[in-house]
Parts: sequence; C-alpha cells; structure tokens
Amino acid sequence: MKKAPILIAAFILGSFAVGGVGLVAVTHELTDTKIAENQRAAMMAKLEAIVPEGRMSNDPLQDRIEVSDPKLLGAPVTEVYRVRDKDEPVALILKPVVPDGYAGPINLLVSVLHDGTLGGVRVISHHETPGLGDKIEERKDDWIIEQFNGRSLGEPPLELWQVKRDGGVFDQFTGATITPRSVVNAVKGTLLFVQQHGDALYTRPATGQADGNPAPVPAPIPAAAASGEKSAHAQPEEASGLQAIQEPIQGQGQEKAATKEPRANVAVEAV
Ligand SMILES: Cc1cc2nc3c(=O)[nH]c(=O)nc-3n(C[C@H](O)[C@H](O)[C@H](O)COP(=O)(O)O)c2cc1C
Repeated sequence: MKKAPILIAAFILGSFAVGGVGLVAVTHELTDTKIAENQRAAMMAKLEAIVPEGRMSNDPLQDRIEVSDPKLLGAPVTEVYRVRDKDEPVALILKPVVPDGYAGPINLLVSVLHDGTLGGVRVISHHETPGLGDKIEERKDDWIIEQFNGRSLGEPPLELWQVKRDGGVFDQFTGATITPRSVVNAVKGTLLFVQQHGDALYTRPATGQADGNPAPVPAPIPAAAASGEKSAHAQPEEASGLQAIQEPIQGQGQEKAATKEPRANVAVEAV
C-alpha cells in the first residue's frame, strides 16, 4: 500500500483543521473586543445623560468602586461610578437594585450630584408589565424624568418620599402602584446611602475597570444597619441581594401573587 497519498491527504486535512480553528479563534477575539467596545460606549452614553453636560473629565468606568448596603441598595454589592471635573467631584452614579418590583427586580442607574440633588434616574432592566409598570422606562413615559430630576432628600422632605397614594408627592400609575412605589423607595434608599457616606465615596481608591467580570468584593463600607438607621426599603427580611435577583419578589408584592397572570420572567433592557 502506498503511504504517500495517505500522508498528503492527512496533511491537507490537518491543515484545514488548524486553519479553521485559528479562524474561529481570531473571529471570536475580534468580536469580543467589538462587543466590549460597544458595551462600554453604551454605558458611557447612559452615564453622560444623567450628569451635567461637559462636567465629566475623568473616565467613570475606571473611576469605580464597589459598596455594600443590601438594605438601602438592594444587593450585596453595588457599583458606584465617580464623575469628576478635573479634581472636583461632580456626581456619584450608583446601580441599585429594586428588589420588590411587581414582577421581579428592577435595575436602576441613579446619579447623585455632589450637592445631594439627583442628576437623573434611569431603568437599566426590569420585568414589569407592558402598558402598566413599564412606564418607568424613559422611552415609554416621562415619569422617571419628571418625578426625580432635581429632587433631593430635602425636596421633598423625607416623609414625603412616597407615592401620592401613600401620602407622598410622587405620581403612581393608574392601576399600577406597586412598581412606582418600589422605585421611589429605592431612589430614596440610594440618596440616604450617599448622604450617610458622603465624600468618603469620592476618596476611596478605585476598584478599576468595569469589564463585566466579577471583581473581588472589597471590604464593605459599613451598612446603614450597623448605625441603627431604619431602612428605606420595606423589605420583610434580610434577603441577600442575589436572592432578590434570582427569586420571585417577596413582601410588599406578595399580596398580588395570587391575582396576577403568570408571565415569562424575562428582563427588558430599558436603556
Ligand atoms: C396581569 C397584571 C399585571 C400587572 N402588572 C403590574 C405592574 O407591572 N406594576 C404594578 O404596579 N401593578 C401591576 N398590576 C396591578 C397590581 O396587581 C396592583 O393591583 C396595583 O399595582 C395596585 O395599584 P392600584 O391600587 O393603583 O390598582 C398588574 C395586575 C395584573 C392583573
């Protein structure tokens, strides 16, 4: 039997295999880089929309820390982006989780300016019902802009940080009070967190680039609970934020569970 043709065929096949694997690897690498660049650009656009124009001279995605206050911020670890104009602190942008949305957790971006007023609030993702709770999305309704822009812990006074139905100043939606109530609570909790920790949030060394990979959890800033402060969130128990993300909502929304239709628990990317 002639060995040469077999060897040539094997060589050709091997070359194709190696070439194919190489091509897939290179394409994967290029696509990954492009996806990361797009994600970064999208995130920067979201951050720029909720800070004063022209006042971001740093890279907040690098100038990032992680904090921990599950009671006020709804998750065990919360990212905070610092926005600075040269050395001047401009805003802290936090990513709190609203654990008690109607249909699941709601992920927010909350910009707190250095004077304590809100630069803006945006919904990153949610599970709320189209036509009811999804009016928290900026692209569906002006609610999130009209209710929060320029507000602070003194405007309105703390006891009025509730929806109108509960005696506060924030509009609820017709036939959908649970979603706005939980978002108002979460924004209030975020403002309380920033008020409690103040400039320490600007001076802590940065954790580094937000690359989507889980970062090592740093020593947390002591939670509000440690200081005996009452939580802004009406959570029934000390559920970890991860539980809050993965499991059905508990507590405030429990009474509705019996009445609502089952629906796919798919997060809607809102911005
Ligand atoms: C199918 C279905 C979906 C609902 N989706 C929401 C929702 O996304 N957000 C919300 O607050 N309420 C939603 N509700 C209404 C709540 O069950 C509850 O009745 C309401 O939030 C209470 O506010 P109201 O007293 O103003 O009606 C939904 C109800 C049904 C039947």
